[in-house]
Amino acid sequence: MIYLDNSASSFPKPRCVINAVDEAMRKYGANPGRSGHDMSIATAMKVAEVREKVAAFFGVKRSENVIFTGSCTQALNLAILGSYVEGGHVVCTTNDHNSVLRPLHELEAEGHISISIAKPKDNFRLTLEDIEPLVRPNTYMICVNHISNVDGMMTELEAIGEFCEQRCILFLVDGAQSAGHVKIDMTRSGIDLLALAPHKGLYALQGVGVLCFSPKAKLRPILFGGTGTESASLRQPLIAPEAFESGTVATPNILSLGAGLEYVKENFESINRRIEDLSTYLLYELQNLDGVITYTHPENSFGVISFNILDMPSSQVSDILNMKYKIASRSGLHCAPLKHKSLGTLEQGTVRLSLSGFTTFGEVQKTVKAIAKICEMAK
Ligand code: ALA
Repeated sequence: MIYLDNSASSFPKPRCVINAVDEAMRKYGANPGRSGHDMSIATAMKVAEVREKVAAFFGVKRSENVIFTGSCTQALNLAILGSYVEGGHVVCTTNDHNSVLRPLHELEAEGHISISIAKPKDNFRLTLEDIEPLVRPNTYMICVNHISNVDGMMTELEAIGEFCEQRCILFLVDGAQSAGHVKIDMTRSGIDLLALAPHKGLYALQGVGVLCFSPKAKLRPILFGGTGTESASLRQPLIAPEAFESGTVATPNILSLGAGLEYVKENFESINRRIEDLSTYLLYELQNLDGVITYTHPENSFGVISFNILDMPSSQVSDILNMKYKIASRSGLHCAPLKHKSLGTLEQGTVRLSLSGFTTFGEVQKTVKAIAKICEMAK
């Protein structure tokens, strides 16, 4: 099988990640932070080590401000529902995923907030210029998607972060697609809330998400229960990270994140040079095929390439790729309806090919040949 669905979840995982999970199952099976016996303490220490590593990698000043959740969607829900201001206003963007759009629209439907949606003026970058005109006196948050999961469009973070700092606005960045592909420093970019999907570009297992937050983000818990701290109190403790991690955390998944992060740190340049080269090549070849419409801008060579073949439904192309050529892609709307609306592909969807550091040139060549054959068939 040729696996080009790495934006949905990366595959394969590096050996060190598989080993970390194996070790977690054999040596760190206790509940971290709940009991006083040796294995529980050792497990808690391993989880704390990963928290430190995440903080160091993403420029988070205090590791306590790194929260482990069950997914990036849960991290985004915590960021949005845990920080909203009654009567306030939020600017989000057409690049956003439903994991941002839906909690925001839920708050809007319940009358808590109002929302404006920024649309990029050019077709390859989202910038402060697209957002600033929508900001109001009651805007308390700007949410952006760092790299679009549909076409790889990049958002320029620094200027938006600086603007948010000056205006005391919270800056939420959905890094689901960018973490591991582009360096992110929360402190340097003025990010207050950073959500991560470690099972994508950080090569971790599914079942762990991360929310990093700055001291400016006065986060409230949205999940209540046991924390292993202040257990006599019937009210939720407010001290991070425990206050936001009620329920037993997924130790094997978190330890897989630690290993994945080390792997990415050691191989950052080579992984991303490979993805950039293969993306550029794949896009160029697709653009030269008669009948193919591409939606990814060549500047955004982050391994996320969307295309269609004439007016064929994207799901049909994806099914042929899977059944006839054993190539895994993802079709449809990729949970990003506003992005597809702006691309004009709300009906047809797009076929998305997404690469990882394990994708080979041969695989990309075979994929181009398969798509050329489908084009022939479609004419
Ligand atoms: N958000 C993931 C994707 O883009 C699942 O496919």
